[in-house]
Amino acid sequence: MKEMNILNSLRQNNLSFKLVPIHIRELIYFQEVPCDIYGYVNEFFVVVMQKGLLINKDSLQQVINLGADQLFVLDDDYKLLVKKNQKILLEISRSLSIGDVIANGKKQVYYLSLNLEYLYQNPTDDETLLLQYQCIKSLGRLLLAKLSLIPVLFQYLLDQTYHYSVSQPLLSSLILLGYLKSTQQFSEKDIISLFLTSYFKDIGLSIIPKTCLDKKDLNEEEKKLISQHQQFSIEILSGRIPLGVNYFNIINNHHVHSLLGGDVVTKANDQNEVLIGAETLFVEMVDILAAMISKRPYRDGLTLYSGLQRIKDILGKEHQQEFKLLVWFLQKFFKLDDKSS
Ligand SMILES: [Fe+2]
Repeated sequence: MKEMNILNSLRQNNLSFKLVPIHIRELIYFQEVPCDIYGYVNEFFVVVMQKGLLINKDSLQQVINLGADQLFVLDDDYKLLVKKNQKILLEISRSLSIGDVIANGKKQVYYLSLNLEYLYQNPTDDETLLLQYQCIKSLGRLLLAKLSLIPVLFQYLLDQTYHYSVSQPLLSSLILLGYLKSTQQFSEKDIISLFLTSYFKDIGLSIIPKTCLDKKDLNEEEKKLISQHQQFSIEILSGRIPLGVNYFNIINNHHVHSLLGGDVVTKANDQNEVLIGAETLFVEMVDILAAMISKRPYRDGLTLYSGLQRIKDILGKEHQQEFKLLVWFLQKFFKLDDKSS
């Protein structure tokens, strides 16, 4: 009996080295469980969903009933799971405008977020980066043709449970695209390039530990690390996505007036004053707004109205015209209270 226990312990120990944690959302759109799913139940790793099992409310409830609060797959199966989810993203991105556009848009946002998580796990993976680039570009084109999707997808994404480093890039880029379109100053090609720039500007956060991103009170070293994320983004993206040097400059300067999307305001002083173009200002302005109205682990999100008031305090005086245009766009699409204009 004792030998059996030792053998069991050895097996469990061996298994623990081969298991990779997954989130239930990585399984949601499959009809069947694509590989054996393990859970940690009563101090043991056990299969809680067998390969081929139908995925429905009952099978998911069974896992919850077992008390497996974290799920795992074998490392080889994990690669398979990622590929299968990426295939779904590619397929939905190729047929976005066919059928129910709202449902397609939501499903694509869901999978874009999932693939961004994969990219955060492995920012050097060319295939994952290229897939994300192509698919976010497809979404940009769809949004230009149907601006009314912006508030729908914005709210949908706000309601998801992705980490803010995953949802923030798209939240800010959704507002940016609608805002740029409503200014009537940009060609569709330029709007798409700026949409992509905004989306990828924070990919450098992938290098920073989440424990650091989730802290309210950062020490000097942590602040310094986070303030370098723009440079990390440039290093990750250079030569790997087809964006021109002007767009990389926007990434570099997207926190000229703020750090952490408005949570820590560090207005550039006279010595450090950086001359920035209108495009950088637009990218930064909507980034701050999106950050303020979405939750962080250490604070709630502000209302759109309160978020705009903060933007007005930070940038509104110097950039009145741009601010008014932002309010105008939000009033039109997000049914903003009149008091904010
Ligand atoms: Fe940023």
